[in-house]
Amino acid sequence: MAARAIFLFGLAAAGQAAPSMKDFHRTCQGEKTTPEQLHFNYAGDRGMTISWNTKAKLEFPAVRYGRDRWLDQIAFSEVSVTYPTSTTYSNHVFIDGLEPDTEYSFSVLCADENDHHRFKTSIAPGNPRPYTFAFIGDLGTMGPLGLADYGQEDALSPGEITTMQSLGQFKNQFEFVWHDGDLAYADDWLKEERNGFLPNTTTEGGAAVYEAILNAFYNEMAQNITMDRPYMVGPGNHEANCDNGGSGPYTDSICMEGQTNFTGFRNHFRMPSAQSGGLENFWFSWDSGLVHYIQFNTETDFPDAPDLPGGSGEENAGPFAPNGTQIEWLKRDLASVDRKKTPWIIVAGHRPWYVDDSKCDSCQTAFEPLLLEYGVDIALFGHKHFYERMTPIANNTPDSKGLNNPSAPWYIVNGAAGHYEGLSSVDTPYENYTVKAIDTVYGWSRFTVHNCTHITQDFIASANGTVLDSATLYKNHDGCKF
Ligand SMILES: [Fe+2]
Repeated sequence: MAARAIFLFGLAAAGQAAPSMKDFHRTCQGEKTTPEQLHFNYAGDRGMTISWNTKAKLEFPAVRYGRDRWLDQIAFSEVSVTYPTSTTYSNHVFIDGLEPDTEYSFSVLCADENDHHRFKTSIAPGNPRPYTFAFIGDLGTMGPLGLADYGQEDALSPGEITTMQSLGQFKNQFEFVWHDGDLAYADDWLKEERNGFLPNTTTEGGAAVYEAILNAFYNEMAQNITMDRPYMVGPGNHEANCDNGGSGPYTDSICMEGQTNFTGFRNHFRMPSAQSGGLENFWFSWDSGLVHYIQFNTETDFPDAPDLPGGSGEENAGPFAPNGTQIEWLKRDLASVDRKKTPWIIVAGHRPWYVDDSKCDSCQTAFEPLLLEYGVDIALFGHKHFYERMTPIANNTPDSKGLNNPSAPWYIVNGAAGHYEGLSSVDTPYENYTVKAIDTVYGWSRFTVHNCTHITQDFIASANGTVLDSATLYKNHDGCKF
């Protein structure tokens, strides 16, 4: 059967001949090239990026794929990257020319012969088919390196279903998972060590623990959900460096090269910034069905961003582009949305500015004017370790229409997915824009895009799958026919 090579990530430009299957398999070296940490993400209307890690570098990361089990096509790249302190290489292969809303089987290089997986491409923009997606914030590794059922505040009950497991149980309901920053919590190793939770760890040995947490998290995520559903991610402060903003007498000066400046996060993912004019995994957009999705970056790359050197977050990271680049991109991206095709715009950033706890004022100054100018429908955030649903709000004033065709964006904070630090308390009394707050259970959000007028958000308790809060937004979008 004919194999079609797809040249990307510089291989075509280099003018090299397509490697043969023999060339590919020659690079397999047993355990060193066994795939782990498998995940994939949307990459444009007809693309998918497949990513996995190996202990050794792959000369030509490759993916065989097809509409049936014969996997008659192949895509490859030269992207097998690592960084100081990492114990693995991140391999990324972009596949283009796929049919929208279509399932494909695939297998990555050096996997067992029968280790086939399936992905489904995004729904074509404008297709009114209803669908559901999952939204999470602030999810760390589970078990002895992170959130366990012992030795910490808000520990899991023995046998409690975690958010990862809950997503796995519900995966047949949704198309993709959107993780709005704070992944793995590898930088909590210092806190865990100082608290005696990691009794055999020293500060000097922390760099290895940091990498062990990242590997554990991405493997758990793969086993539960990311080898089955697209995994879209954005940056949070816990991706910035090794020390979680300093802990006790320590500052980020203890971080080794490779564990600063979002390095692991930049290596591990290839979000669709190339397809949307964005930047790496920091800001980008994609479409699916009736929705245009935007991930923006509340950590660096705007005035007084908290993670910049000297910023309030003490993370000493970035910037990653010249002054003004992110905001200019966001404006351009919002202006280019064809609301006839994608009447809904849903955005996500990590740090909220409407929330019953410390607010990110510089984020509000940078982003809210554009959200209002371009009629963003829903704005999602994490960072605070609880669930809080606001009423639509603009410039600190609740929209009098509530969820009944408001002109202001609807704000939801959900950073309750779970990690070593547990949950936080919502400050009381609540702000006048807070409708519902839950700060005692781990959970995730399920969004259902019904049509061009209605979207429902449910907060799901991970432990038992119950819906603890549910609300539906009605918007009378111009020209809406579905
Ligand atoms: Fe955070």
